Amino acid sequence: MTLFDDIQASAAFLKDRLGERRPRIGLVLGSGLNDLAASLSDAMEIEYSAIPRFPTTTVSGHHGKLIVGSMGGVEVACLQGRVHAYEGQPAEKLGYGVRTLAGIGVEILILTNAAGSLRSDVGPGRLMLIEDHINFSGVNPLVGENDDRLGPRFPDMTDAWSADLRELAQKAAADAHVDDLTSGVYLMVKGPNFETPAEIRMMIGMGAHAVGMSTVPECIVARHAGLRVLGISSITNLGAGMQGGALTHEETMSEGARAAIPLRALLERLIPKLGAAR
Ligand code: HPA
Repeated sequence: MTLFDDIQASAAFLKDRLGERRPRIGLVLGSGLNDLAASLSDAMEIEYSAIPRFPTTTVSGHHGKLIVGSMGGVEVACLQGRVHAYEGQPAEKLGYGVRTLAGIGVEILILTNAAGSLRSDVGPGRLMLIEDHINFSGVNPLVGENDDRLGPRFPDMTDAWSADLRELAQKAAADAHVDDLTSGVYLMVKGPNFETPAEIRMMIGMGAHAVGMSTVPECIVARHAGLRVLGISSITNLGAGMQGGALTHEETMSEGARAAIPLRALLERLIPKLGAAR
C-alpha cells in the first residue's frame, strides 16, 4: 500500500458518501476556530475515524471531523481538527487531510490557525493574511520517496500563498467591515512549547510577523498537489516576552474564539467570491 493508495481509498469513500456534492473549496479550521463550521448550512459531518486510512488528531480543542456544507450558496469541505507536528506523527500525516481534499476535487484551500504576533502593534483578536512563510519547524511532509501522482519532486514555492486570493480576501474584509486586517509572514515552529523571548527576538530579526505550530506542512502539500492557497492567522497573543505574563493554550483557545467573529464575517463574503473565481 502506498500513500497514494491510502489517499485514493479515503477520497473514494468520501466521494461515495457525498453523492453529488463536489466542493471546490477546502477550509482547515485552527485552534479556537472550530465553531466556524456552524456557519455552514445543509452540513454533512463525517468523523475522521469513519474515513478509511484517515489519521486522527489528539489535541484538546481540535475536533476530528470533515464537514461539507454550504456558505453563501457555495459548497465548502471543512476539516475541523488537524494533525500537528508536535503530536509526533510521521510528517506525511500532516498533509493527509489536504491531499484527501484534493482527491475529492478541492482546488482552492483556505488554511486558518491561531498564532502569536511578532508585532507589538498587532495584538490579540486581529486577523493576518499569510503573505509568505518561513518553515522553521524542521518538518517537511514531502520528505521521502516522491510519488509523481501526488506532485513533482521539487515544487516551486514562489507564489505559495496566492496573491490573487489575498486580493479577494482584502475585498471581502472591506465588504465585511473588517478594517484592521493585516498581512505578513508566518513562521512555523514544531512546538509544543511556546517560544522563549530570545527565540521571539530572533524571529522578528528573520522577518517574520507571526509564529505558530501548524499550517506550513498543509500549504506545502497543497502546492505540491497544485491547489491555490489562502492563509489567515487569528492572533491570540503577542510573542513570548512581548507581553506581561506567561502564554497558555487556554488563552490561545479563548482569544482564537474572539477572532472567530471577524473571521466568520470575512469568510461569509469571501467564499461566494471564490465560488465565482476560476
Ligand atoms: N507561539 C506559537 N504558537 C502559537 C502562539 C505562540 O505564541 N500563539 C498561538 N499559537
